[in-house]
Amino acid sequence: PNILILGAPGAGKGTQSARIAEEFDVEHVTTGDALRANKHMETEHGTPASFMDAGELVPDPVVNEIVNAALSEADGYVLDGYPRNLSQAEYLDDITDLDVVLYLDVDEDELVGRLTGRRLDPETGDIYHIEYNPAEDEAVKERLVQRDDDTEETVRERLRVYRENTEPVIEHYEETGELVRIDGEQTPDEVWDDIKETVEEEA
Ligand code: AP5
Ligand code: ZN
Repeated sequence: PNILILGAPGAGKGTQSARIAEEFDVEHVTTGDALRANKHMETEHGTPASFMDAGELVPDPVVNEIVNAALSEADGYVLDGYPRNLSQAEYLDDITDLDVVLYLDVDEDELVGRLTGRRLDPETGDIYHIEYNPAEDEAVKERLVQRDDDTEETVRERLRVYRENTEPVIEHYEETGELVRIDGEQTPDEVWDDIKETVEEEA
């Protein structure tokens, strides 16, 4: 199936996409990870890092191209981090057909703590949280890193950009009748149960 997962920064898109990709045998296509892997790439629209470290959106032509290339190679996908504005949503409508649109709904008060406490395993890409999902293994614990844009100041700007640019995308998929709202404030396992059930029904 072709699955879109929407939600604010810290809503749990990456956490749940990893499980979706495994369970439904689809490609995890994430513009955030793709951009982080090419942060210092120079494009005619600037260097991604200069936007990302400030919490701003990378210019549309850069991300559109990443998504177009990744989707054309994927036989089923879960798309995470895109579209982030209405112009990206229009572009996406032109290049693919979606089977399921999931929206992870989490209150903004909860998001800052999730992001500033997030830690990543650079070797596996696994996502942890110092409180909500701590690493058990000592070797893993020692190598955990924090994302450059997870400082409180940048998090606040990412949330502002989300409200301004990405909330209209949520409304767009609400209007088309495709959006399925998932309560993202439950535990990761409970969120996963709802997602699994929804994808099995809709796809
Ligand atoms: P991107 O990487 O997409 O970041 P984001 O949208 O801000 O989302 P996050 O990755 O921060 O959060 P998430 O929802 O994946 O949450 P996670 O599962 O990790 O984008 C980064 C930047 O790249 C952008 O700012 C922009 O500059 C650029 N960019 C990317 N795409 C772009 C585009 N299309 N156009 C333009 N620019 C683009 O979970 C977060 C934390 O919470 C973790 O610690 C996790 O353990 C914990 N957690 C997860 N679920 C739960 C739960 N149910 N309960 C408690 N804790 C939980
Ligand atoms: Zn993510």
